[in-house]
Amino acid sequence: MSFAQRTMFCGDARPEHAGSEVVLNGWAHRIRDLGGLFFVDLRDRSGLVQLFFDPNRFPNLQEIRPETCLSVRGRLERRSPETVNPKIPTGEVEVLVDAYEVLGPAKPLPFPLSDEEQMASVNEELRIKHRYLDLRRPSMLRRLQIRASAVRRIRSYLDARGFLEVETPIITKSTPEGARDYLVPYRLEPGKFYALPQSPQQYKQLLMVAGVERYYQIAKCFRDESQRSDRQPEFTQLDLEMSFVVQEDILRLMEDLTRTLVNGLIDEFGLDKRPVGPFQRLSYDEAMRLYGCDKPDLRFGLPIFDVTDELRGCCFGVFRSAIEAGGRIRGLRYPGGARLSRKEVGQLEEFAKTFGAKGLATLGVVPPQTPDATPAGELAVRGSIAKFFTEPELRAILSASQAEPDDLLCFVADQYAAGNNVLYRLRNEIGDRCGLRDRRVLEFCWVLDFPLVEWDEETGRWSPTHHPFTSPKIEDLGFLETDPAKVRADCYDIVCNGVEWASGSIRIHRPDVQTRVFSLLGIDEATQRERFGHMLEAFQYGAPPHGGIAPGIDRLIMFLTDDENIREVIAFPKVGNGYDPLMDAPSGIDPQQWEEIGLRLANPG
Ligand code: AMO
Ligand code: AMP
Repeated sequence: MSFAQRTMFCGDARPEHAGSEVVLNGWAHRIRDLGGLFFVDLRDRSGLVQLFFDPNRFPNLQEIRPETCLSVRGRLERRSPETVNPKIPTGEVEVLVDAYEVLGPAKPLPFPLSDEEQMASVNEELRIKHRYLDLRRPSMLRRLQIRASAVRRIRSYLDARGFLEVETPIITKSTPEGARDYLVPYRLEPGKFYALPQSPQQYKQLLMVAGVERYYQIAKCFRDESQRSDRQPEFTQLDLEMSFVVQEDILRLMEDLTRTLVNGLIDEFGLDKRPVGPFQRLSYDEAMRLYGCDKPDLRFGLPIFDVTDELRGCCFGVFRSAIEAGGRIRGLRYPGGARLSRKEVGQLEEFAKTFGAKGLATLGVVPPQTPDATPAGELAVRGSIAKFFTEPELRAILSASQAEPDDLLCFVADQYAAGNNVLYRLRNEIGDRCGLRDRRVLEFCWVLDFPLVEWDEETGRWSPTHHPFTSPKIEDLGFLETDPAKVRADCYDIVCNGVEWASGSIRIHRPDVQTRVFSLLGIDEATQRERFGHMLEAFQYGAPPHGGIAPGIDRLIMFLTDDENIREVIAFPKVGNGYDPLMDAPSGIDPQQWEEIGLRLANPG
């Protein structure tokens, strides 16, 4: 038999095709050699179908090994009732093979593709080294399909609303987003370099000056920064920008886009997720005060309570001295935590300490009249620190924390910022322990009104909270030089389930304001001209007010597929230190290439 075009896809075979002659192309997924009977599950992109080979007719069946690429011709038949496999859509039929051809023989596999359970324990670097095999798994193909559909839906949504997709350069000049640049040597002038863009930020703003008005791009971004489970050195953003807009226009558009997109994908792929509802909105200050971070997980409540004022005069030395030092007494309720053993409470304290807590004081909340408990109104409390508080103080604590019986109240006495970090981590830990972080819920929210700049202890400078092109709020402009910490920005993030998903802002479009912000960031005039002169000049030719946002595509797919690691949703990802085990990149270069770029290693290894 010579290779023939398929007449149908494996996954489409159904009883109504019984009796027809078919040609199928695909891979031997699973092989069952039962002596006189030889079965192969043939897999293509659409699914699997069972093939039956008569060993008397085909003497060389041992050449069909797992993942051999095959073309087969045969007759599609109904299976006898006792051999029907209800677990697969093609389980009522099989193909009796008349002829076959091995299109691509397969050597023994580095890992067993047909068994998802075994795959879970396969070394990830080995999977990525053989990604072309790993991606043959239906679960991996599905990730690629969800991703492709997401991009298709984004394009159709934005195209229908007058957005223009524009490609911007990859070899260009540094666009700072807070990471290190990837640099590309320039052959014609040794010592000069292109930088790969950390985002298309400057180009998209220049497109607004160019009058494009509504731009988007599915944009590759490059950042040489330490990797985390939701970060890759090379990743993809939906980058968009609009002219003549205020913040509210972008919030409305993005919220509608996100809900349309995500709810469409949930339906299309039958994902086990609740439909996405309206986004909650909270200010940066509220997020920090109530959740200790700017990326709160709003799938559950349990906000931070603050009892500083209530405990100002209390007898508990740890709290009193923290308050006298300008700190605050804040805490969280842990529903059901009053039932933890002393040892378990100790472990919770150790957890808090790994995030910088000096300690974790606790009070168990119990019904009144509980033996050994200190009464406090309609409830009572238990714990070694209970004795330090008066009844009115205990009542004030129970009221501020909205305590309920069986809660463990956990207190952190510290400066506001240090306390935030502990309480943020502790709240998520409590959420996990109480089963409140439900995978079926995607809780998106807006975080608004970020400060324009933050003080960076390391460099002794103000650094942008978002990036240097973000506009200060007009009403705060007056504080730019006098009290920078007070200046809020027209800047907004979308957070989903405790993960930052998108960042955006209204941009500066006036050269004088941009210069003032650069100066605040410690960028002197010569450096401003050299690095950003093109922006400052462009803003002098009728720049429109503009703003935009950029959600991460990879992170969106992670939300939908419940993947903990971003590598699962990228076809060809890098591992830990930016290494690509498949291509063996980065790699050395030829002597001639060294010659061409005119560079030499300072310390050859
Ligand atoms: P920002 O730097 O906040 O903003 O990035 C926006 C979104 O991109 C995703 N993201 C990443 N995803 C995977 N790996 C990474 N290393 C990585 N870094 C960022 C996140 C993040 O929320 N130019 C601005 C946007 C704008 O102002 O319009 C920008 O790039 O989902
Ligand atoms: P100590 O007096 O250090 O033995 O602490 C008494 C209790 O207060 C212990 O349960 C400590 O964990 C707790 N504690 C100590 N420092 C702090 C702090 N900064 N915030 C909250 N609890 C603390």
